[in-house]
Amino acid sequence: MIAMSLLRGRSIPADYIVSGYWSWKSVPEAQREGPVRVIWNGEASGFNCLPSEGELNYGSDAPYFHYVSNETVEGLQFHRLLGTDGVPRICDMSSDLLCRPVPSHRFALMYAHAQKNLGPSGATVVILREDLVRDMRRDLPAMLDYRLHLEHGSIYNTPPVFPIYVILLVTRWLRSEIGGLEKMCEINCRKAERLYSVLDSSGGFYAGRAAARDRSWMNVAFNIHDRKLESLFLSDAETLGFRGLEGHRTIGGLRASLYNAITPEAVDALCSFMKDFQARHAE
Ligand SMILES: Cc1ncc(COP(=O)(O)O)c(C=O)c1O
Repeated sequence: MIAMSLLRGRSIPADYIVSGYWSWKSVPEAQREGPVRVIWNGEASGFNCLPSEGELNYGSDAPYFHYVSNETVEGLQFHRLLGTDGVPRICDMSSDLLCRPVPSHRFALMYAHAQKNLGPSGATVVILREDLVRDMRRDLPAMLDYRLHLEHGSIYNTPPVFPIYVILLVTRWLRSEIGGLEKMCEINCRKAERLYSVLDSSGGFYAGRAAARDRSWMNVAFNIHDRKLESLFLSDAETLGFRGLEGHRTIGGLRASLYNAITPEAVDALCSFMKDFQARHAE
């Protein structure tokens, strides 16, 4: 609902890309507010790749265009900016905000929950172009009315102070210890490359879900060729202290999330475990 409340009653559909579970969930929400045109849908092909630019036919008069920059469940990430500058660009960046620099001035609205790269759950970051609120509907419940949040300096309601404080510490850490988002981006890219190279050099023992060009740096979703080994993989991993490697309940399989807080050393340890597991179980 966050993105959709911006525009006054309208008849021209908003453009949506359905590239995975989270963008798929956003469409019925948006339809409560007005018509939606899905300009690309990866559902039929099992959400294992993202559209190339040539496959996208953006509406030049759409009231806004919405996409999800990183599909957390399937491990797909756009490594380019989508949309056109003439149509307000709205993006759910819940699972990759702060993993790399983004040209925020080219977005009408970016939103992200905190609990991936930012801090604990309970806070949502919304970055929006101030001029958009001028045309906002007037009949919204107060909490969905960004004018009110802006007028009150983001403390219209009682804010969750602890998550916001942790986000402050995390952003300071990013700036002073990591050295900024360019640096974070290099680190994340290297971490992901290491793990994907274990999949790619496994001779088919492990198989990544996402098409190589659309691989997420944040969520590495994969399977073991012999699916029966996946539960053993999870229990061996748990014994060694690697937790949360099961895939999302909707698709199963395995998933390693490499958010900013995961160190390169932790990724190296996971890679070693995976190679060792393969050596023990490959036929
Ligand atoms: C990209 C994306 N959007 C939305 C959500 C939903 O977030 P929440 O549970 O904070 O509503 C998630 C959850 O992981 C997500 O990864």
